Amino acid sequence: MTLRAVVRGIGHYLPERVVENAEFEKTLDTNDAWISSRTGIERRHFAAEGETTSDLGVNACEAALSDAGLVADDVDALIVATSTPDLTFPSAATMIQGKLGMTRGFAFDVQAVCAGFAYAMTTANSLISSGQAQRVLVVGSETFSRLMDWTDRGTCVLFGDGAGAVLLEARNAAGTPDDRGILAAEIHSDGRYKDILYVDGGVSTHTTGHLRMQGKEVFRHAVEKLAGTARTTLAKAGLEPADVDWIVPHQANLRILTATADRLNVPMEKVVVTVQDHGNTSAASIPLALSVAKADGRLKEGDVVVTGAIGGGLAWGSVVFRV
Ligand code: ACO
Repeated sequence: MTLRAVVRGIGHYLPERVVENAEFEKTLDTNDAWISSRTGIERRHFAAEGETTSDLGVNACEAALSDAGLVADDVDALIVATSTPDLTFPSAATMIQGKLGMTRGFAFDVQAVCAGFAYAMTTANSLISSGQAQRVLVVGSETFSRLMDWTDRGTCVLFGDGAGAVLLEARNAAGTPDDRGILAAEIHSDGRYKDILYVDGGVSTHTTGHLRMQGKEVFRHAVEKLAGTARTTLAKAGLEPADVDWIVPHQANLRILTATADRLNVPMEKVVVTVQDHGNTSAASIPLALSVAKADGRLKEGDVVVTGAIGGGLAWGSVVFRV
C-alpha cells in the first residue's frame, strides 16, 4: 500500500479590477498588438489598494474547501507559495490560517517565485506520503503588481495578481501509475542565474524593489527546463508524454507554452492556457489554471495532469498527478 496525495478540491480568486493591454498605451510606448503577439496576454487582474496577498489567498482557500465539501478545521497543514507576502512576518500562510478561522494544524510559506507552486506541491506530497498530514491546502497567491516598475515596458505588461488553491488528501493506493493522486514530483534550482530574473530590493536592503528581467535569457531557460523536468517527472511516474491528458504549465508567455508542448510532442489542445486572461501571476498561475479547467469541465477524474513551472532563482520543477 502507498499513501497518495489526491486532489479533493480546487478553487481560485481574482481581484475585481481587469486591466486590458490597451490601458498601458496611455502611459507607455507599447500597444495591444505587441503585447498580445509577443506574449499571448490580453488582460490581467490587479488587486485593489489595500487588497493583499492573504486577502486573495483566503478567498481561493474558501473556494477550494467548498469544492471539497470541507471546512478549515478539517485541514492539517496550509502551505502558501508566494514572493509577495503582506508583511515580512508573520507568513502569508499563518495570516490566511487566521482569516480562515483555522484553529489547528500548521501553516508556512514557500518562496520559489514562479516555481513556488511546484515547490509547495512537492512539500505537501512529502508531508502526506510520510503520514505527517492527512489534508494539506496548497495555495499560490501573489500581488506582483506591487513589484512592477511602471516605466519598464519590458516587464510591467507581463504580470497580474491572483490566487489559486488545491486541497490534497491522503488516500491508500496500490502504488502503480493507475493510482489517483500525485504520482511523481521533482524540484530544482541553480543560483548561478540570479541576474536574469530578480527583484532589486528586499528587507535587508531597506527597500521593496522592482522586478528586473532579461526576457530572452529567461525564455530560453524556460522552454528547455520546463520540457526537461516534465519528461523526467513523467518517467518517475512510470508514464510518457503520450499518456498525458492535460499539461497545466506556469502561465508566463504563450510562446513558452507552445514551444514546451512542441518539445514534448503534446498537441496544444491538451495544454490549459489562461495567460490571455490572467497574465503571469507567478506562483498562483498553475492553481488558477487548474481551477479554471476544473470549473469548465476539462479536468475529469482519472486524467493525467503534468504541471511545470520555472522562475527566479532560477528555480523550477514539475508535478504529475492523476485527477
Ligand atoms: N511594448 C513594445 N515594445 C517592447 C515591449 C512592450 N511592452 N517590451 C519590450 N519591447 C521592445 C524592446 O524594447 C525591444 O526593442 P529594441 O529592439 O528597440 O531594443 C524589442 O521590443 C524586442 O525586445 P525583446 O526583449 O528582444 O523581445 P522578445 O521578443 O524577447 O519579447 C518578452 C520580450 C515578451 C519579455 C520575452 O522575452 C519573454 O516572454 N521572455 C520570458 C520572460 C517571462 O515570461 N518572464 C516571466 C517571469 S519568469 C517566468 O515566469 C518563466
